[in-house]
Amino acid sequence: MDGMDVTTLAERFALSCWGADESTRLARLIGLFLELPDPPDLDGSFPDHARFRNLLATAIEGGDTDEIEERFLELYAHLHMNQALYSDDERGRMDAAGGYWNHAGGLSPILKAEPWISPDTVSADFGAGNGLQGLLLQVLYPHRRTVQIEISARMAEIGEGLREWLGVPSDRVEWVVGDVLEIPAIGYGFIYLYRPVRPEGPGRDFYTRFAREVESEDRPPVIFSIADCLRDFLSDRYEVFYGDGHLTCFKPR
Ligand SMILES: C[S@@+](CC[C@H](N)C(=O)[O-])C[C@H]1O[C@@H](n2cnc3c(N)ncnc32)[C@H](O)[C@@H]1O
Repeated sequence: MDGMDVTTLAERFALSCWGADESTRLARLIGLFLELPDPPDLDGSFPDHARFRNLLATAIEGGDTDEIEERFLELYAHLHMNQALYSDDERGRMDAAGGYWNHAGGLSPILKAEPWISPDTVSADFGAGNGLQGLLLQVLYPHRRTVQIEISARMAEIGEGLREWLGVPSDRVEWVVGDVLEIPAIGYGFIYLYRPVRPEGPGRDFYTRFAREVESEDRPPVIFSIADCLRDFLSDRYEVFYGDGHLTCFKPR
């Protein structure tokens, strides 16, 4: 898809239910995904990539914007992988902390993040899976660094392949294979998280500490939280500036 086609597609999205800015970003991602070759397929992680991409290309030729969006979401979900790969040890640690499995956070946080990420931002995804969310943020809004924190070493390896495939420079992405319970939420300008652990037992301690750390920063980060359970732990130092039941966005007052 050339630049003109991306513009036309963005205009078509803008005529449906999408806002103008989000339409442009969505069309850019679709254009990129159509241009890319098949991703590195270690262990057969993406067996249906070519099929989903062809369905997307066909939808763009003849379908309406709902169909294009649906086909793109299928391709996105395939790349995200809904089944993460855990060693016995990782699985044991996840179970002990009430860890949440590898569900996809969706496109809306990615399309809405632009105003909150500048070239100097350091962003983080707490519970990153294969890191697709943070990588797409880098694709749309190149910034200093994205820290991808994930308990599954295998998912981080697959994510490193996706980083190269998407053309994100290696010095822009840091993989931290570890337990979010042990990793400080300090030094970030933008944090994304999708309920890596349940807010009970050790998970409760995680959210309590996380809130204390972000609030103690001179410049607390903007936080995008999917299926949010952080709100009860934040003080009035933070306010919610967007919420749709799926995504909740916080910024410091
Ligand atoms: C709901 S998924 C979110 C994936 C991705 N961030 C997104 O939004 O699409 C939660 C992720 O957290 C990871 N996770 C669960 N418990 C964890 C823990 N204690 N430490 C680090 N990561 C964890 C899971 O492996 C999974 O990849």
